[in-house]
Amino acid sequence: MTDNASDFANPLMETYSRFPVTLVKGKGSYVWDDQGNKYLDFTSGIATCNLGHVPEIVKEKVEEQLQNLWHCSNLYHIPNQKELASLLTANSCGDRVFFCNSGAEANEAAIKLARRYAQKIKGTDAYEVITFEKSFHGRTLATLSATGQEKIHQGFLPLVQGFQYLPYNDLATLEQLYNLEPAAVLLEMVQGEGGVIPADPEWVQKLAQICKEKDILLMVDEIQTGIGRTGTLFAYEQYGIEPDVISIAKGLGSGFPIGAIIAKEKAAQGFEPGSHGSTFGGNPLATAAGVATVSHLTTSNILDQAAQIADYFDTQLVNLKNKFSLIKEIRGIGLLKGLVVEGNALKIVKKALAHQLLILTAGPDVVRILPALTSSIEEVNECITTLEKVFLEIREKGE
Ligand SMILES: Cc1ncc(COP(=O)(O)O)c(C=O)c1O
Repeated sequence: MTDNASDFANPLMETYSRFPVTLVKGKGSYVWDDQGNKYLDFTSGIATCNLGHVPEIVKEKVEEQLQNLWHCSNLYHIPNQKELASLLTANSCGDRVFFCNSGAEANEAAIKLARRYAQKIKGTDAYEVITFEKSFHGRTLATLSATGQEKIHQGFLPLVQGFQYLPYNDLATLEQLYNLEPAAVLLEMVQGEGGVIPADPEWVQKLAQICKEKDILLMVDEIQTGIGRTGTLFAYEQYGIEPDVISIAKGLGSGFPIGAIIAKEKAAQGFEPGSHGSTFGGNPLATAAGVATVSHLTTSNILDQAAQIADYFDTQLVNLKNKFSLIKEIRGIGLLKGLVVEGNALKIVKKALAHQLLILTAGPDVVRILPALTSSIEEVNECITTLEKVFLEIREKGE
């Protein structure tokens, strides 16, 4: 029994291992705890506060909406929804948007759309969705079944039928797709939770080509990589492909809960009134946050700035790697960074926390760093200085 489990005073279920910190305030790249301590937040709430904490531009738009209407069902038109959908389709290869409230729900919608497209539009009985080993697609029953990690499945058997996992980035096994009749393929452009592993461009292009030849829907899970995280609004843009379905969430509302799928017209035809829905999906407040976030990202130079900061960060991380053999590899695209380390990544994250730097793990031996797209050179330097202290401490203590 863990300490927490014996703590009957805790009214929360034990679904998270929490760090012993209570955060109560945030601004830009910084957060403060209930004791008044300031932390550099290079987690961005796990790739969610891409514009930093409490961005003025989003706050104003949400406050304006708060004065007027908080909720209205999808039985009526919601202007912010249409505006956000137009922004998303104008800035992607997709034509139609469905709104929901989280990443898992976005992938659920994508999986349902794939089945409907195969069965209703193509007239086949295909239902399988090919996903990849080490992938992560969410915690609902269908999305955990889509996830190619056994530890996520444990205790939840039987899984939802209709998923098959192929090795990621493996050109040889892709040929298997010629012998399968799936409804869709679902992949991350960078496997975030799986260890910050970017997709290999040659592999992605081959995958896209097979999907096109066989009329299999190509669906990309951009829940972690989307909304500017990798330097472009969507990571797929850097791969020369056009997915049929894109799932997004996290950064879309700058911290306000919202998810969506963007689909090409062909795939979107799979849904008709009654086939899918959500009470809160596309809620006026959530879509106000989304409109402010996406219009800011697409009309300012923030993505260029973020790409420059990412390059600077890369150089500094390479310098750090040259000083500490503990760092074995640096991976990632844009401001989605992974340091493959010798030993336990969580130990490094805990030590960084003691120095008031928030970073994450991505599996047992990868430290994941996700600065806000708005972070500055000074903030990157602060992160590097703290990491240096942490690595020196580990080296000196022989830990
Ligand atoms: C790639 C990917 N897909 C899906 C999800 C699930 O998103 P949510 O936690 O909003 O349900 C996540 C969350 O980390 C993710 O990184």
